[in-house]
Amino acid sequence: MDYNKYPAEPFRIKMVEPVSMVSKEVRERIAKEAGYNTFLIPSEDVYIDLLTDSGTNAMSDRQWAGMMLGDEAYAGSRNFFHLEQTVQELMGFKHIVPTHQGRGAENLLSSIAIEKGQYVPGNMYFTTTRFHQENNGGIFVDIINDDAHDAAKDIPFKGNIDVDKLRKLIDEKGAENIAYVCLAVTVNLAGGQPVSIANMKEVSELCRANDIKVFFDATRFAENAYFIKEQEEGYQDKTIAEIVKEMFSYADGCTMSGKKDGIVNIGGFLCMNDDELFEKAKELVVVYEGMPSYGGMSGRDMEALAIGLKESMQFEYIQHRVLQVRYLGDKLKEAGVPIVEPVGGHAVFLDARRFCPHLDQSELPAQALANDLFIESGVRSMERGIVSAGREAVTGENHRPKLETVRLTIPRRVYTYKHMDVVADAVIKLYKHKEDIKGLKFVYEPAQLRFFTARFEHI
Ligand SMILES: Cc1ncc(COP(=O)(O)O)c(C=O)c1O
Repeated sequence: MDYNKYPAEPFRIKMVEPVSMVSKEVRERIAKEAGYNTFLIPSEDVYIDLLTDSGTNAMSDRQWAGMMLGDEAYAGSRNFFHLEQTVQELMGFKHIVPTHQGRGAENLLSSIAIEKGQYVPGNMYFTTTRFHQENNGGIFVDIINDDAHDAAKDIPFKGNIDVDKLRKLIDEKGAENIAYVCLAVTVNLAGGQPVSIANMKEVSELCRANDIKVFFDATRFAENAYFIKEQEEGYQDKTIAEIVKEMFSYADGCTMSGKKDGIVNIGGFLCMNDDELFEKAKELVVVYEGMPSYGGMSGRDMEALAIGLKESMQFEYIQHRVLQVRYLGDKLKEAGVPIVEPVGGHAVFLDARRFCPHLDQSELPAQALANDLFIESGVRSMERGIVSAGREAVTGENHRPKLETVRLTIPRRVYTYKHMDVVADAVIKLYKHKEDIKGLKFVYEPAQLRFFTARFEHI
């Protein structure tokens, strides 16, 4: 292995969690009992768990030490002040409202910043984000560049907003009918694709000229910053901290799931510069989350998050993080397995359309592929295609996303390169007899965010 291309883990392992591997026959039974939904498989039956990078992080010894310094006072916990100070220092926002996780922040922002019938443009949708926008009367509009919907197109900064699409929307609908622009860094469902500083700047200039606010979905901000350092001209000599500061200078606020680049297991927050909006957020957080000084998190959780945010910006950490994901992607590409290119920051996405050309999108190819991968190897992944996309809010028709993918999501600081080899071997083996993958149909479909709890059977 080339250690310059794929640097070794910049940490030592101090505690381990044993995993077990059950037989293929047992996995077949478990998959069936779970209604062929990988979300419903008990974690103890999983060998390598790549369901998500959300809340599955390994915390550092410093974060665990911080947990012991939790101040569990109902109000005014010192850990809140530490978190507030850290966020202000790293991201530069004036106000922070803690929440139990990212969707708590999305709920607050959507409730206070969207009026019924207003448009909420964004660079591709995210499931919970769009849900809260629509639930508050907003109309989501996808303004990501067209290439982001093409799995095979290998171009940098594939998460960028198409500024012409945004300009057209403002001209057609009027700036007053746009609630705010939601800019995700990186774009999860596009394959973890980053956004360039140049694009953030252009979006911000256009929005400021039209008095429209820009809120970042900051969930994977550190991964995005690494890509900028690696690939955007003029940023090679800047530190991750400098890049992060510049990124957020183009936003009026952000929602954040601490469970990703905060390197914790639970937590999130909402930030903004606007004083009036902050007052409204504080009024609402007490209803849904808790006091503005804890918002659904314990003192120890806030302490771990404050420390984790700083750790995620250390160069050795974030370089290893992104390059370990790339290692898995490179192995699959070398074997001819179709994946979303370029490989993004948190996951390798299998392109289920090209993996299973014998299945129509209505036969849920990505859902079927994720299940067969589990049965074959004990590797758990997640569908990110037609099932996750859900139904159109007004017509009730299925959204039919161009990207029909299976996400192999790498938890932070949890697995080694050897685990990546095992995953690659399992996917390559499955690809060799891909014609055997059978389509699925819904037997239970919940009304909201159906992918979490839906059940399926073979067609
Ligand atoms: C891009 C993005 N935004 C928002 C969220 C929601 O965060 P949470 O799961 O903490 O509610 C996620 C979680 O997966 C995400 O990936």
